[in-house]
Amino acid sequence: MTETAPRKRLYIKTYGCQMNVYDSERMADVLAPLGYDVTDTPEGADLVVLNTCHIREKATEKVYSELGKIRELRDAKAEAGDGVMTIAVAGCVAQAEGAEIMRRQPAVDLVVGPQAYHQLPELIARAHRAKGERLAADFAAHDKFDALPAARNPGGVTAFLTVQEGCDKFCTFCVVPYTRGAEWSRPVDQILAEARGLADQGVREVTLLGQNVNAYSGEGGLAGLVRRLAEIPGLDRIRYTTSHPRDMDEALIAAHAELPELMPYLHLPVQSGSDKILKAMNRAHTADSYLKLIETIRAARPDIALSGDFIVGFPGERDADFEATLQLVREVGYASAFSFKYSRRPGTPAAAMPGQVAEAVKDERLARLNALLDEQQVAFNQSQVGRVLPVLFEKPGRHPGQLSGRSPYLQAVHATGPDHLIGQIVPVRIESAAKMSLAGALELESA
Ligand code: SAH
Ligand code: SF4
Ligand code: F3S
Repeated sequence: MTETAPRKRLYIKTYGCQMNVYDSERMADVLAPLGYDVTDTPEGADLVVLNTCHIREKATEKVYSELGKIRELRDAKAEAGDGVMTIAVAGCVAQAEGAEIMRRQPAVDLVVGPQAYHQLPELIARAHRAKGERLAADFAAHDKFDALPAARNPGGVTAFLTVQEGCDKFCTFCVVPYTRGAEWSRPVDQILAEARGLADQGVREVTLLGQNVNAYSGEGGLAGLVRRLAEIPGLDRIRYTTSHPRDMDEALIAAHAELPELMPYLHLPVQSGSDKILKAMNRAHTADSYLKLIETIRAARPDIALSGDFIVGFPGERDADFEATLQLVREVGYASAFSFKYSRRPGTPAAAMPGQVAEAVKDERLARLNALLDEQQVAFNQSQVGRVLPVLFEKPGRHPGQLSGRSPYLQAVHATGPDHLIGQIVPVRIESAAKMSLAGALELESA
């Protein structure tokens, strides 16, 4: 290719979940042929994309304050005679309140929902003509994946791969069914082709993504897909997230027992340990059915590391309900977890429920839950000390001569070693453990 057209600078800021991370990479891919190179600072950029998250109020408010700052950068660029900065808002806030964004921040040139990223080049062209439709936020057809270029490896040895989008579960607290639309799965062949492409570019580990990834409904379900992916040469590690307890079927559990490529780590959010709250959340499982499921999974793969999401202060949550959550956590024993204060989201059923919990009570419960979860995380990490774990090295560590990678259980592992081990799976003897990472030494075969 020739370098005739001047290159343009694209700054993308990503909020929210891993699906947004994947989407941001796809947006960069679709914009590259138009001359856009990704930069990591917004100053002077020709195009700024905020890929937003609507899940909690805080996440949404951040977008508006960031837009204020971007607007100042846009004005500075114009004043310096450096040309035009185009401002785009993508992601779940774009989907949920696109028109409001345009009203609240007139500097925004275009708004694009998660199903419409393939339309970005056209939207940008229209914005530059300063007329026409600048808001693409329908769930139209699922032609996005057909229209987007195949995923390029953004340079690492691990990659995300979206296999499923949307959600039909309608948990009463959650905006995702409204921002991402109905559950929809990509066809198996399209996913396999993308995965082969990634493996050819040096990717050793893929994380399959979906708001309800284990509801994947392509042929063979998620278990079938994982089996096909495991056959791809070079793809040695497969993970998936996020799963719903309701869709954790026998075939997938069996895959954990049988497939060495399927990593022993499972993010299986439970949200609460109180049946009363679970019912009000419309979760379609009880504390007991969740615990039984965990038992079955552990029977298949005894060393599996479990992770979860929790919400404290859901409407109607009393002390006894919160105690039930603590009790469930004690019974499961998590390797890691994410916990949130309930955030009232406009338009969701829970926002209108009686018994909204005071902020101070939420704070106190969150602190207690986090203390317990932290303790479990440290205990899980410490249980690895003395073991030799296969570590996939991903990048240089923070200190010179150090490498950074991941254990099968998704723990960060640091060890001293040569750079050429990046991209390789190497046995590491774990010597110490902290909350966020493990440290160890390469286990040299002839030592
Ligand atoms: N599809 C996934 C995760 C969706 S969002 C699942 O079903 O598990 C990620 C997490 O955000 C949820 O698991 C939940 O714990 C949290 N969350 C969603 N809506 C929330 C809200 N209104 N307030 C607080 N936390 C919320
Ligand atoms: Fe939200 Fe529930 Fe769907 Fe997860 S399963 S995305 S929490 S509605
Ligand atoms: Fe946020 Fe949308 Fe993901 S609301 S968590 S970015 S699906």
